[in-house]
Amino acid sequence: MSEQEDRNFFDTFMMVLAALIVFTVVIYAISNMVANRTIADRHVQTVDAQSQLAERIRPEGRLCLKGQEEECEVDIATVDPVSDEDDAVAEAEGEVDGQQVYNQACTTCHGQGVAGAPVTGDDGAWAARLDKGYDTLLEHSIEGFQGDAGYMPAKGGNPNLSDEQVAAALDYMLEQVD
Ligand code: HEC
Repeated sequence: MSEQEDRNFFDTFMMVLAALIVFTVVIYAISNMVANRTIADRHVQTVDAQSQLAERIRPEGRLCLKGQEEECEVDIATVDPVSDEDDAVAEAEGEVDGQQVYNQACTTCHGQGVAGAPVTGDDGAWAARLDKGYDTLLEHSIEGFQGDAGYMPAKGGNPNLSDEQVAAALDYMLEQVD
């Protein structure tokens, strides 16, 4: 190769190299722009998606105790206690079903005479107890009673029962005795 040819080759080579460098810089700038925009989009999406997800998996109910008003964002004082609703439902339904309460809370012991409990419908077992008078029996049903035969737990061990429900169950029990 002549010296002239070398020169030509070198010039061309340098031009191509310069073009490649310019090209690289341009590509780099463009990709940077695109990437920035995508990242900004994705960031918005993530924040959005996160709050939507949190909303979707939010628990239905929440247990808020007194003193946690701030975290729970409710004013406990304005929340009706559930028992009020229960009472309202019971009132709306009219009479408490004594047999139902009995089956739920008393029959465990009084059905078979477990732990010394007088068996429901056993006239002999109930005669002496009936002599105590209804008020005493009701009091013993609600507050509990330690007798010679055994221990009768208050409300049959169901503190959630209302006095009316226990009374209804007692009435049902006494109806089974002649
Ligand atoms: C865990 C067992 C148990 C359950 C549940 C239970 N009782 Fe009794 N109950 C007893 C026993 C034991 C006695 C006998 C106590 C004694 O006289 O020594 C008794 C006695 C009684 C008496 C007679 C009390 C007296 O003064 O002689 C009444 C009335 C009575 N129960 C009502 C109820 C009613 C109403 C329920 C359901 C709400 C109930 N009991 C549920 C164990 C139970």
